[in-house]
Amino acid sequence: MIKEKILVIGASGQIGVELTLALRKIYGNANVVASDLREENDLLKGSGPYVSMDVMNKEMLHVQVIRQNITQIYLLAAILSATGEKNPNLAWSINMQSLLNVLDIAKEEKIHKVYWPSSVAVFGPTSPKQNCPQQTIIEPTTVYGISKYAGEFWCNYYYQRWGLDVRSIRYPGLISYKSAPGGGTTDYAVEIFHDALEEKRYECFLQEDTYLPMMYMPDAIRATIELMEAPEEKIRIRTAYNISGMSFSPKEIASEIKKHIPAFTISYQPDYRQQIADSWPQSIDDSVARSDWGWREDYDLERMTRDMFENL
Ligand code: NAD
Ligand code: SER
Repeated sequence: MIKEKILVIGASGQIGVELTLALRKIYGNANVVASDLREENDLLKGSGPYVSMDVMNKEMLHVQVIRQNITQIYLLAAILSATGEKNPNLAWSINMQSLLNVLDIAKEEKIHKVYWPSSVAVFGPTSPKQNCPQQTIIEPTTVYGISKYAGEFWCNYYYQRWGLDVRSIRYPGLISYKSAPGGGTTDYAVEIFHDALEEKRYECFLQEDTYLPMMYMPDAIRATIELMEAPEEKIRIRTAYNISGMSFSPKEIASEIKKHIPAFTISYQPDYRQQIADSWPQSIDDSVARSDWGWREDYDLERMTRDMFENL
């Protein structure tokens, strides 16, 4: 077996912390280098190497890739949907340039595999709302969605033109208890658990009937690792795979939470994020990921809610 040395960029973020820890379990602590612009997340401290790095600095990234003998790169640094709408130029610049820097260096240094996540945010108001298919009308209306869709095609381009093994998933909104979410429209589904425990009430920034595709973090981490470990011939989609976990509204998650905290109440004060949520599908068809590399989720709303309360 080839000895892999992995660089995780954006390792202190919501996904980065858990993915880094999962990769360290598989490949060994010393073989997974965590890196981020911000300080090392407490959960990563002492578990393996950490490098403070701005992915926008291509030279520094290149030096690290060579110095650390990196063979795989996971690029998680990005500006998410809600923060992106506040500063569209910055979101475009970071989301695109970070990817182009990584793809270029990966090509030059003959990196074995690159992982870069896309999002259900690629879909727009003209995409089907229910069971949104892998291939359909895709006309995103947020800068985040535009950057993800453009990014998918850059990944495909590097694969087709230079054979770079880049793989990607369109994650739904992710719910986790280990690290905080970083400025997305789906963040309410994490905040609600913390507020339920601390204050027994939550004011939601989306309307009660806003259904969105969601997934529990353990499923997302497993999907990422399963995709990356799948034999190359099984990966037919070189833009990004749809995957699905669950779909619920604020009203539905609130009533699930009430089963654990009967005194819990929710109120609704929709803000600018409502428009973003309204532009996305409510549920996702992931049949292509299922047949290509065997994807299957473990968690539904009920099981996730129980696990969240056991761990928080
Ligand atoms: P996050 O905001 O929690 O983490 C991103 C990390 O990247 C942060 O720790 C941040 O400090 C770091 N970063 C930002 N700019 C950087 C730079 N210039 N150099 C180095 N590091 C930098 O985001 P996340 O939720 O962990 O998302 C990771 C990836 O997954 C992103 O591409 C995101 O678009 C995608 N995604 C996330 C979700 C979700 O619900 N969390 C859903 C779909 C897709
Ligand atoms: N959870 C992400 C967001 O809301 C979707 O990519 O931005």
